[in-house]
Formats: sequence, C-alpha cells, structure tokens
Amino acid sequence: MKFRKKILCIGAGYVGGPSMAMIAYKCPDYRVTVVDINHERIDAWNSAELPVYEPGLEEIVKKTRGKNLFFVKDIENQISENDIIFVSVNTPTKMFGTGAGMAADLQYWEKTARQILQYSQSSKIVIEKSTLPVKTALAMERILGSAKGNFTFEVLSNPEFMAEGTAISDLENPDRILIGSRETKSGLKARAELVEIYARWIPEEKIITSNIWSSELSKLVANAFLAQRVSSINSISALCEKADADVTQVAKAVGMDSRIGGKFLNAGVGFGGSCFKKDILNLVYLCNFYGLPEVASYWESVVKINEYQQERFVTNIIASMFNTLAGKKICIMGFAFKGNTGDTRESPAIYITRRLLEERAEVIISDPQALKNAALDLAAEKGSITYREDPYLAAASCHALAILTDWDLYRKLDYKKIYKTMVKPAFLFDGRNITDHKKCFAIGFNVYPTGKPPLSHFKSRQES
Ligand code: NAD
Ligand code: UGA
Repeated sequence: MKFRKKILCIGAGYVGGPSMAMIAYKCPDYRVTVVDINHERIDAWNSAELPVYEPGLEEIVKKTRGKNLFFVKDIENQISENDIIFVSVNTPTKMFGTGAGMAADLQYWEKTARQILQYSQSSKIVIEKSTLPVKTALAMERILGSAKGNFTFEVLSNPEFMAEGTAISDLENPDRILIGSRETKSGLKARAELVEIYARWIPEEKIITSNIWSSELSKLVANAFLAQRVSSINSISALCEKADADVTQVAKAVGMDSRIGGKFLNAGVGFGGSCFKKDILNLVYLCNFYGLPEVASYWESVVKINEYQQERFVTNIIASMFNTLAGKKICIMGFAFKGNTGDTRESPAIYITRRLLEERAEVIISDPQALKNAALDLAAEKGSITYREDPYLAAASCHALAILTDWDLYRKLDYKKIYKTMVKPAFLFDGRNITDHKKCFAIGFNVYPTGKPPLSHFKSRQES
C-alpha cells in the first residue's frame, strides 16, 4: 500500500507510543513508525503485553499495529526513510554538573538531533514533542543546520498535554493542540503539514499556533499552573485540619467561581509523575538563568509545599499511631502516582514508603498495575516489604491502611471485610479522600482523611 505521509517518532515511551498509536488510528493512510534505543521496549510494543498501561490503548494498538503502525529497532534507516520526525525522548532533571537537580538533562535529546543529522539524506520536518526548556529549538536548528547535503530541516514545537491514565481520551479529544514554528515561508509550510495531520480528527479551532518560544514555554507553564493548583489546595488542607474545616467543601465553594474553576483542587498526598516536579524545576532554573530570582522562588515554593505535604502525611501517621511504627504492619493501597496507570515515577508512595521503613514499620504494598515498578523503585531499600496485588490479602493482619493512589477500586472495597481481618485499633489514613469516611468510622476504623478533622474512636471516648 502506498501511504500518503510517512511519520517517524523517536522515543517509544509513555508519550511516543500512545500519541503515535492515535495518529495511526485516525489516519489509516499514513504510515507511522516508532523507534527506540531500548529494544526491550520495542519488543514489548510488539507483544501482547504493552509496556505502558493506559485504558483504551491496547484496543487501538491492536487495530493499527502491523497495518500502518510499526515499532522497529532500526533507527538509522527509519530516519532516512521518513519525512516527518517527532522527537519524544525523555528529558529528565539533570543530575550532574551545572544545573544539577534543576535544569533539564538534554543529552538524550541532543543525541537524537545528531542522529537525525547523520542519517538524513533529504529535507525533513523535525517536531519537538518532548518537554524542553525555552529556546531548545534553536539548538536543534543549529545542530541540523550543519548538514552538508542539499536539503533543509524545519524545526517545530508541538508539546504534548496528555495526562497518564487518560492518555487515550486526551489524545482523541484534547483541549488544544499547540504548534510553534518560525514565521518564515518554510516554517509556515511545515506548520501547515502538521496542522493537516491533527485536522483529521481535531476541530481546527482547537489547533492553535504560535512562535516556537511561546510554544516551548507554554508547556512548562501549563504544568507549573496545574501543579500550583495542587500545592495551593494541599497547603489549605493543612490549615483545614487545624481549623476543623473540610478541604473538599472549601474546594467546592472556591471552584464554583467560574474564574477559578473546580478542576485540580483535590487535596491529597501531593503530586507525583515524571513531569510536574521536573518541569517546575526546569522553569525555576530558567528564571534564575535569566536573572529573575523572585520569579524562581515563587515557582520553587510549589515543589516545597509538595514535599511538605508528603512529610506531613507521614508525621500524621506516626503521631496518630502513638508515636511508634516499629514492627507495625502498614498496608499501602496504591503505589502508582495516580489511578489508571502503572507508572510510579516520582510517586508520593516512594517517599512515604521509605519514611515508613525508616520508622521500622513493615510495609505491605498493593496496587493493581504498579507492583512491578514499585519493586524496582524500592529494590535498594532495607526493611520488610511485601507486594500483594489483592487488597484484601494485603490488608489482612495490618495495623493501618494508607491510601496513596486514587484507584477507583479503593472506593468500592468491602471495608467491613477488611476491618475484620486487621489488628485493632485499626487505622485508615486516606491520602486521596476516596473512601466513605463516616461509613469506615462506623465500621470501627479510626479515620484520618486529608484536610478534614479525623474521625477517631479514642477522641469520642475521651469526650463522652
Ligand atoms: P519515557 O522515558 O517513557 O520515554 C522516552 C523514550 O525515549 C525511552 O523509551 C528512551 O529509551 C527513548 N530514547 C531516549 N534517547 C533515545 C534516542 N537517542 N533514540 C531513540 N530513543 C531514545 O518518557 P515519556 O514519559 O514518554 O516522556 C517523553 C517526553 O514527553 C518528556 O520530555 C516528557 O516531559 C514529555 N511528556 C510526558 C508526558 C507523560 O505523561 N509521560 C506527557 C507530556 C509530555
Ligand atoms: C500532567 C498534566 O496533567 C498533563 O497535561 C501533562 O501533559 C503531563 O503532566 C506531562 O507533561 O507529563 P500527569 O502527570 O500524567 O499529567 O497526571 P495529572 O493528572 O496531571 O496528575 C499529576 C499528579 O497530580 C498526580 O500525582 C495526581 O494524583 C496529582 N493531583 C492531580 C492531585 O493530587 N490533585 C488533583 O486535583 C489533581
């Protein structure tokens, strides 16, 4: 079959895989190829067990794989064969040298730029899909600009806004698609090519264009604003606990103001995921780099509140359980950084588990999708860690439950059945406010929600 467009994506991760599967699904007359230096990942994409868990992903991969969606290992040939190249490699926080702990580590990204340069024999459109510091496209242009052949490269910025756990619906029905380009004739032509792809299934009014630097920066700012909302409500959850207010009620009242909006106001154990922290730290680094320390410290406080919230959750457990956790069994319900994903990168559960182990608690971890990753994250930890997928088995003979991920499953558990198998007095620390607190209290649990007064049987006995 002759395909109308040939698209390559370098990087077969959480973004590259699902976003390319969506393009292949919506554009059956385009050939979409995904490559990665990690050959195990490519094998997994070609197997029955995909490397990424996302509701709805398997269905669209099954419909497209081998027809117009291909996962392959041969990067060199693919670069030379394809005209449109998305770059979706990882851009983690740099852990060495200048900018360590703050700036983006661009080594994977730059290696890709050099590979594109080395293996290209014709003009190409190169699209930044990875999240990058503002002005990165300039470096890409400079590297590619050193090409010797009679061909050119046009660099576009097309940041990805999907969230894990809802990737497929976000990709199918995004709030917007942002495309940044140079305002030159060739830049606008390349932009039009990319618009044409998305216009296959996304209404044109949702496809917005800007200059490259605005596009790069918008991605960092969008994540910073989202994380800021989470830190804002989490900071208020601490105040609610002191002032006998209920953070859910406060969030509802505040969020109903249409100028504020109700989304991203769920208080909890703090934000995790591979991007919020790294992207804010990257923004902080950029602000300092451009001589704006006040702006930098404003955004840095979003990360600090997030760390405070996680530590607060642990100190609350210790204080509520009579100031000692040594030898006590604590069941961690949920290790993924959010529900509907197996991803544990920067999950608050990692920090909280480590702290519980430091206190010599025995930790039993349950999660429907993330146990493999949890075991990798905690491989170096000393202490007693058990992994059990079944939440009922995990909770049996525990002193406390700590709910750390908003899996729907945890809303529906039979807490009466769980309570019966636990050591008494039994504690429930709801780090996501997803259980029915009054009902669990009535069952017999001492319930410690987030940002609401605790429901403690000790307290009511003292008062009566
Ligand atoms: P990931 O680590 O899951 O995937 C990146 C992949 O790139 C890895 O499989 C890695 O092996 C591969 N890679 C690295 N260097 C390569 C090279 N030279 N050639 C070929 N492959 C190479 O990362 P991710 O979560 O998919 O994120 C990718 C980018 O997208 C990051 O910049 C991230 O900030 C951004 N982003 C992520 C999300 C998300 O939900 N995870 C959402 C929006 C944007
Ligand atoms: C986030 C953004 O939502 C995406 O738009 C963006 O593309 C992506 O980062 C990225 O750049 O990687 P993601 O991290 O997958 O997506 O998931 P979110 O739904 O944003 O949740 C992030 C964290 O915040 C989770 O730990 C979640 O539990 C927490 N959160 C979210 C709260 O604690 N409260 C809320 O109200 C919302």
